[in-house]
Amino acid sequence: TRPLKVALLGCGVVGSEVARIMTTHAADLTARIGAPVELAGIAVRRPNRVREGVPAELVTTDATALVKRGDIDVVVEVIGGIEPARSLISTAFEHGASVVSANKALVAQDGAALHAAALERGVDLYYEAAVAGAIPLVRPLRESLAGDKVNRVLGIVNGTTNFILDRMDTSGAGYSEALDEATALGYAEADPTADVEGFDAAAKAAILAGIAFHTRVTLDDVHREGITEVTASDIASAKRMGCTVKLLAICERAEDGRSVTARVHPAMIPLSHPLASVREAYNAVFVEAEAAGRLMFYGPGAGGLPTASAVLGDLVAACRNRLGQTTGPGESAYTRLPVSPMGDV
Ligand code: HSE
Repeated sequence: TRPLKVALLGCGVVGSEVARIMTTHAADLTARIGAPVELAGIAVRRPNRVREGVPAELVTTDATALVKRGDIDVVVEVIGGIEPARSLISTAFEHGASVVSANKALVAQDGAALHAAALERGVDLYYEAAVAGAIPLVRPLRESLAGDKVNRVLGIVNGTTNFILDRMDTSGAGYSEALDEATALGYAEADPTADVEGFDAAAKAAILAGIAFHTRVTLDDVHREGITEVTASDIASAKRMGCTVKLLAICERAEDGRSVTARVHPAMIPLSHPLASVREAYNAVFVEAEAAGRLMFYGPGAGGLPTASAVLGDLVAACRNRLGQTTGPGESAYTRLPVSPMGDV
């Protein structure tokens, strides 16, 4: 069987782990896919910054030329941000490649257009890694629960803010002190705005709501409030009431089933609730479905290795489809439920 060719766009914290696992687990991946999978090129912005263990001979700064080669089966996009990721993904589709992306901002903003482009070309678009790192959520919602009716998705989907709130709760630290610690440990970015202002969680909420309720929800539809206003005294008052504060993403179907809401805001959680025990940078998501009941997904929601696990799972799926000349489930926007900015719940 011919080897399947993979182009990797971005080789930072996540990309370098993807490249490393593709090399070290090559035999296992071949066995699972049914054909060898070959890393054909790695596009980076700064070649002198490429991490140890990444095959230097595959590194290029010309991402566009790499996706235009014409012989690429799957493009793995782990650059993040809207551009140049969006243009590169479109070019990949135009050249017949399937795409695996970890890009929550892009999928939350342009998911519908990307799905339409993939469908037009008869290729795949997968993005398990865009939501809650290693935790399987996109595929369970899209596939395992496809025959059920999901009414609510609720959880902690940002590791950085959970780490900060957890530190404030356990050590009585103030917000900036906890943020500094999160930065020093590498959880928060140099610019932590997307995390602490709730944009990252809101993008994930938009993606989850769209898949869970088979509709279209974008970042703009999500009511968003971050954690920058949460003070040590808020945490102390919550504690006195037997609660803790968590940044929650809440996606709900209205009771009459005719609209959906998605919101992200800090919330008081009773200590007896399972979400209260989600510590450090972990994520946890509850899914409430009519037949399945309440399901909880828990695990590392950020970090290079956990996110690479989700990317590789998608890569295996996309490669298998390629061999079988088929595609996986596409956009699930079967209905067009209106999205209200805030729920009445
Ligand atoms: N900044 C994100 C987080 C990374 O802290 O959860 C994973 O999307």
